[in-house]
Amino acid sequence: MSYPHFLVMPYPILGHMNPLLQFSQVLANHGCKITFLITEFNQKRMKSEIDHLGAQIKFVTLPDGLDPEDDRSDQPKVILSLRNTMPTKLHRLIQDINNNNNALDGDNNKITCLVVSKNIGWALEVAHKLGIKGALLWPASATSLASFESIPRLIDEGIIDSETGLPTRKQEIQLLPNSPMMDTANLPWCSLGKNFFLHMVEDTQSLKLGEWWLCNTTCDLEPGALAMWPRFLSIGPLMQSDTNKSSFWREDTTCLHWLDQHPPQSVVYVSFGSLAIVEPNQFNELAIGLDLLNKPFLWVVRPSNENNKVNNTYPNEFHGSKGKIIGWAPQKKILNHPAIACFITHCGWNSIIEGVCGGIPFLCWPFFSDQFINKSYICDVWKVGLGLDQDENGLIMKGEIRKKVEQLLGNEDIKARSVKLKELTVNNFDEGGQSSQNIEKFINWAKD
Ligand code: UDX
Repeated sequence: MSYPHFLVMPYPILGHMNPLLQFSQVLANHGCKITFLITEFNQKRMKSEIDHLGAQIKFVTLPDGLDPEDDRSDQPKVILSLRNTMPTKLHRLIQDINNNNNALDGDNNKITCLVVSKNIGWALEVAHKLGIKGALLWPASATSLASFESIPRLIDEGIIDSETGLPTRKQEIQLLPNSPMMDTANLPWCSLGKNFFLHMVEDTQSLKLGEWWLCNTTCDLEPGALAMWPRFLSIGPLMQSDTNKSSFWREDTTCLHWLDQHPPQSVVYVSFGSLAIVEPNQFNELAIGLDLLNKPFLWVVRPSNENNKVNNTYPNEFHGSKGKIIGWAPQKKILNHPAIACFITHCGWNSIIEGVCGGIPFLCWPFFSDQFINKSYICDVWKVGLGLDQDENGLIMKGEIRKKVEQLLGNEDIKARSVKLKELTVNNFDEGGQSSQNIEKFINWAKD
């Protein structure tokens, strides 16, 4: 049979769109046909990426059901709107594509498999009804996926409450064999509210219609989690191209020239991904803490706009003379630049994979959801970073930032392990590497 035609559909935030877009490119490079579904709202924000990738990937759109001025950082609202408005439209879209299939092509252009990210498990129900194969590409760690899968067991064992998902009492548990111990208060759904928890319980059920759960990870990074279920398939690290990322903000590439002027391993890079919001008091401490470093720093401060709640006001004491502040970074290039010494990160999974592939040590500053588990992997399992500790008021103080940067950069063991982990991780994509083999296996499954 000829190569399969995948309809790839991410939940519409960057942390999902980037890995699915990168995976789409991998599939396209193997000869597969890709149709990539985005929301009409994001189409406007992604024009340059669509132009850039248009020859390889066909982009199609559907409305997200929200008004233009609605706050799209309000995840429960987005999740609900997609679920209420999109299934019928998706059903029709697939039917239209398959019915308009050119008779001369035989079945070649018919969609044969739907690949979705999390929060839109209902899309797999649509595929199932249409008799189309389905798979999940989980945009975070295999361990966090396993944690959602473990919810019924955690309820049965009385560890969490069935209605809210919150821990019944304070305790440390080991979620999976070989995974780090974790405080139950840091289970990924605990910081996101009851509605999100109930949604995830329902979503995880629908995601079971996906025959494969593809994870942007490797068997060296998360052996325990990947061994838990046969449907887990590691296909990471998704790092093939520098130019294949969608970004809602304009990348400021002037920082690359600025980095060129700095000696190797001298610059501290600070970025908290696309969603985390640094509250004003914390923002002040961070700004002054960076000033206190005897190192240059490159700091991503996302611009405020009508659709987010970012409020960036620099404290009067802040000089910033050793640093460069940008609105949005070409992050993968930065993390592969020799001038970077370490990465202060919110521990979003994509940022971690990118940092690991750059061989960079981490300073961990998790905000919510899976970011706490990810921090444990960095600090306790791979041992390629340190955590930043909050004071009694829940703030990470300027002195703590300075102290931990110095500790991290003085630790040769951590640096050596970071370089070793990079080698182990990127090898997965070499010919014969585990992720390469898994991708072949996945494509062959979709062909049958
Ligand atoms: C979300 C969740 O918040 C996170 O917990 C989960 O693990 C993945 O989905 P996000 O917070 O955006 O993602 O973080 P992350 O996963 O790190 O993804 C951010 C992406 O934006 C990365 O690919 C990173 O390279 C990119 N980025 C970030 C830039 O290109 N430039 C920047 O300036 C900052």
